[in-house]
Amino acid sequence: MAGEGGGRGVALVTGASGGIGLDVARELAARGYDLWLTARSTGKLAEAAATLMRAHPIQVEVVAGDLADPRGAARLAEALSGRGVVPEVLVNNAGVGSHGRFADQDVAGLLGLIQLNVTSLAELTRRILPGMVARGSGRVLNVASTAGYVPGPFMAAYYASKAFVLSLSVALNEELRGSGVTVTALCPGATRTGFDAAAGVSGSKLFRSGVMESAPVARAGVEAMLSGKPVVVPGLRNKVLAGSAGLGPRWLTAKVARALQDPADMA
Ligand SMILES: NC(=O)c1ccc[n+]([C@@H]2O[C@H](COP(=O)([O-])OP(=O)(O)OC[C@H]3O[C@@H](n4cnc5c(N)ncnc54)[C@H](OP(=O)(O)O)[C@@H]3O)[C@@H](O)[C@H]2O)c1
Repeated sequence: MAGEGGGRGVALVTGASGGIGLDVARELAARGYDLWLTARSTGKLAEAAATLMRAHPIQVEVVAGDLADPRGAARLAEALSGRGVVPEVLVNNAGVGSHGRFADQDVAGLLGLIQLNVTSLAELTRRILPGMVARGSGRVLNVASTAGYVPGPFMAAYYASKAFVLSLSVALNEELRGSGVTVTALCPGATRTGFDAAAGVSGSKLFRSGVMESAPVARAGVEAMLSGKPVVVPGLRNKVLAGSAGLGPRWLTAKVARALQDPADMA
């Protein structure tokens, strides 16, 4: 820890070593939140912490950890409670995708994706919410995706994981009405980060047809979260995609999603 402290309380950001998570951390730092940053890449987190503390009068803590490990969320929550910290803001951003036929997916990789995108997100939220509710204040930002609106052939588990995040977030936001705690789902479409290369989906029609930059995506998420909105879909194209997903039958939307990422059409 270093710096004077921003005075807005602590914001915990998962997946803060790059991409949308790092830009969310930048947004929160600029608003005066002290940060707890987590991901697996200790070096990148330390670099981000040093840069943010140079730029803003805040404290930044780095906690390296693997949220695809079934004990990862508990370890992180215990690190916070061990220091007596109940975050004012929880940003569940860490997530991965995986492209290919479900039947061919590496089983350990598939279970790791579900652990990270679904189970650890739910567990961390469950462990941190009671302290927020007891205090009567808190903001949760869960990074879902426009993928949460549709079934996604060739990224089936990823799309299903984001449907879980979107549904959980909107339900919790309603359940918590009047508690002083809100939950917001951020639903980006294709965004320029390390995600597509790691997921093996950079050559898909979806990513070839245009991406948003990560900074405006993060800004939209933080603004929506701070105003307590249940859902935010950044960008006009993404709003149209998400809005039209509910208009047709699910088998039809699955065909459209297939066309955007069929291995046969990869560049
Ligand atoms: N980019 C897109 O097109 C897009 C679209 C919609 C939604 N999203 C969602 O946005 C979120 C952020 O992704 P991004 O686009 O910013 O991708 P990214 O640049 O690949 O960032 C992913 C972050 O998650 C962390 N992470 C990955 N595996 C982890 C693990 N096992 N344990 C802990 N942290 C882990 C990574 O850090 P380490 O590698 O250091 O652990 C990194 O900080 C994800 O939930 C993703 O599904 C992305």
